[in-house]
Amino acid sequence: MKKQIILLPGDGIGHEVVQSAKQVLEAVTERFNHSFTFHTHDIGGCAIDQHGTPLPHDTLQACQEADAILLGAVGGPKWDHNPSHLRPEKGLLGIRKALGLFANLRPIKGFPQLLHASPLKREVIEGSDLLIIRELTSGLYFGTPSERSQNDKSVVDTLYYERDEIERIVDTAFQSARRRRKHLTSVDKANVLESSKLWREVVEQKKTEYPDVIVTHELVDAAAMKLITNPTQFDVIVTENMFGDILSDEASVLTGSLGMLPSASTRADGLGLYEPVHGSAPDITGKGVANPLAMILSSAMMLRHSFDMEEEANVIEEAVRQVLADGYHTADLNVTGGTIVNTKQMTQHVIEHVTSKDATRS
Ligand code: NAD
Ligand code: IPM
Ligand code: MN
Repeated sequence: MKKQIILLPGDGIGHEVVQSAKQVLEAVTERFNHSFTFHTHDIGGCAIDQHGTPLPHDTLQACQEADAILLGAVGGPKWDHNPSHLRPEKGLLGIRKALGLFANLRPIKGFPQLLHASPLKREVIEGSDLLIIRELTSGLYFGTPSERSQNDKSVVDTLYYERDEIERIVDTAFQSARRRRKHLTSVDKANVLESSKLWREVVEQKKTEYPDVIVTHELVDAAAMKLITNPTQFDVIVTENMFGDILSDEASVLTGSLGMLPSASTRADGLGLYEPVHGSAPDITGKGVANPLAMILSSAMMLRHSFDMEEEANVIEEAVRQVLADGYHTADLNVTGGTIVNTKQMTQHVIEHVTSKDATRS
C-alpha cells in the first residue's frame, strides 16, 4: 500500500525520536511490502527561526494533503519569552485546530516488564489499561484571552465550549468504550464551572444512546488522586482539553516514564497527527538518550487508525514488548537490572524484532 507521511520533527528531542519512528516504519514497509514516502516540514521553534512563524503555510498545506502526520515535539527555552503569536506551542495548537483534530487518544497501558519502573506499588498498577480521550481543539486553550489590564494587573483566559464540540468528543468516547470494557468516566469540575455543567448534561443525554456503556462522573481533583491510587477502576476517560493534558502526564507514571506514552490526534475521517505525549525535553536534547518508544508507539497508532494496518501495528508493539523483555531500556526508566541503551540502540533493537521473520504477530 502507498502512503504519504509528513514528518514534523519540531524542536529538541523531536528530531531524535521522529528519526527513530521513520526507521521503524521503513522496516515495516520492507517486511510488508508497503511504500511509504516521507516529507519533512518545519513547525514550532525551528519554523519561527526559518520562516518567522510557528506554522508556515507550506507545512499546513502538506499536512492537509497527506495520509498521516508524525510530530515530534515543539518548544524550548530559546523561544520561552517570545510574544504569544511567536511561541512554538502556537504552531502545535494551530495545526490541531486547522486540521480539525478534536479527539486526542492517549492510551496508558504499562508493559509487564516495566511494572517495577514505576514509583507506584506493583499491586496498585498491575492490570491498569486505560484510554484518556482529551478534547483537543476547544476549551481553555482556545477561548479568546483578554488584553492585560493597565500595569499588568489582570488578564482573562476563557474556557469556552459549544454544545456540539462536547457532543462529538463524548460520542467518540462512548464509541471507544463500546470497543473496550464498556466503562466511561467523564471528568469535569461541575461543582464549580459552567462549562463542566454543560459537559455533564451532554454526557447524561448521550448515555441514553449507549445503554450498554456504564457511565461514571468524577470531579477532576478526585480523578487525579484515583488515577494513581486505583488506576484499574478506569477504562475510558473523557475530559476537557486542559484537564486531559494534565491527567495524561500524571498517568504516565503508571508506565514508568513520560517517554513511553503515545497519542493520536484524530478526526472523524481517519486523518490523524500522531504525537508522543511528552515535550521537547530541553534537559536531554542532543545527548542521544531520549526514549524513542512513545514516538515509535505513536507510529503504530498511525498504522492502526489511519491506514487500517492492524497487523503491522501489532508487529511494532510486539517488537517493543520483546525489546523490553530482553532487558533493554533508556535512562529515563528507573529499572534495576537490564541494560541501559541510547536512542539509536533502542531503535535498532526494535527494528531487529520488526524485521525478524519469526517475530510474533499478536
Ligand atoms: P517535557 O515532556 O519536554 O519533559 C519533562 C521531563 O520528561 C524532562 O525531564 C524530560 O527530559 C523527560 N522526558 C520527556 N520525554 C522524554 C523522552 N522521550 N525520553 C526521556 N525523557 C523524556 O516537558 P517540559 O520540560 O515541561 O517542556 C519542555 C518543552 O516542551 C516546553 O517548551 C513545552 O512547551 C514543550 N512541550 C511540547 C509538547 C509537544 O510538542 N507535544 C508537549 C509537552 C511539552
Ligand atoms: C501536549 C503539550 C501541548 C498541550 C503544549 C505543548 C501546547 O503539553 O501535547 O500535551 O498542552 O497540548
Ligand atoms: Mn502536555
